[in-house]
Amino acid sequence: MFVLAQLTDLHMTSPPRLSELASKRLLGFINWQRKRKFIHRPEVLDAITRDIKQQETDHIAVTGDLINLSLPAEYKRARVWLDALGTPHDVTVIPGNHDVYVRAAVPLPAEFWGDYMRGDDGRDGFPFVRMRDNVALIALSTGVPTGPFMATGRLGQPQLSRLAQALDATHGLFRIVLIHHPPQSPPRRYMRRLIDAADLRRILAEHGAELLIHGHDHERALVRLDGPHGTKVPAVGAPSASARAPHGHENAGGYNIYRIDGNMAAWRCELIARERGVDGIVREIRRETLF
Ligand SMILES: [Fe+2]
Repeated sequence: MFVLAQLTDLHMTSPPRLSELASKRLLGFINWQRKRKFIHRPEVLDAITRDIKQQETDHIAVTGDLINLSLPAEYKRARVWLDALGTPHDVTVIPGNHDVYVRAAVPLPAEFWGDYMRGDDGRDGFPFVRMRDNVALIALSTGVPTGPFMATGRLGQPQLSRLAQALDATHGLFRIVLIHHPPQSPPRRYMRRLIDAADLRRILAEHGAELLIHGHDHERALVRLDGPHGTKVPAVGAPSASARAPHGHENAGGYNIYRIDGNMAAWRCELIARERGVDGIVREIRRETLF
């Protein structure tokens, strides 16, 4: 039995200096002041973090948007949080669009969180692969700087081809693809979609994967994508781990646990959804057999 916890879209922030509020960051800061600061609450993230640490997990995946405006102080704050969450061996991080919010921030996730974003081969870059027991974690980056009011993501051809190779190389293990953006988006999320999602789905259909987990939409989601030979690849979206209560169409703060068992001939995977209720208590809200 291998137990993986996934949390995502923490949107931790720190007060910016005036000089840091140029370009897209200014719009993001206004959005934070008007709306997001009432949604993403430190006390919610604290409750979720405490709950995760009480679970017996083998590994924790953090699937992007750890921070909000890609400010140096935010990366430092997230690093302190990561160090308290677990060691780089037991925690895997991938960036989201808010972690690469502006062009100048592109090198910063690796600079501050590099130990958590490196494969077993010790090399930097994406995808990276970590093997733990009979599980292969294949970590992608869709975080690219975008223009104002955009939150799109992109994998790019070099990363897509290396993904195909990584899926082949880990065939036989329980392959989990970690990605911030969802592999398909409804029309209302067009400005926030993964631009090369169709290419990603084609690679999964050809090379297969046992599970894909993502964040970005702040909603619980489950779709079954096509895999090879009529198989399906469950793609699971987790809610924000810091959202105070249901906000709009989005879910309250929570996270997912995946319990993986079996072997290549017959994998079993159970999804356990945990959520912080309005009473401040984190509890299981659903349990579902993925296969
Ligand atoms: Fe995002």
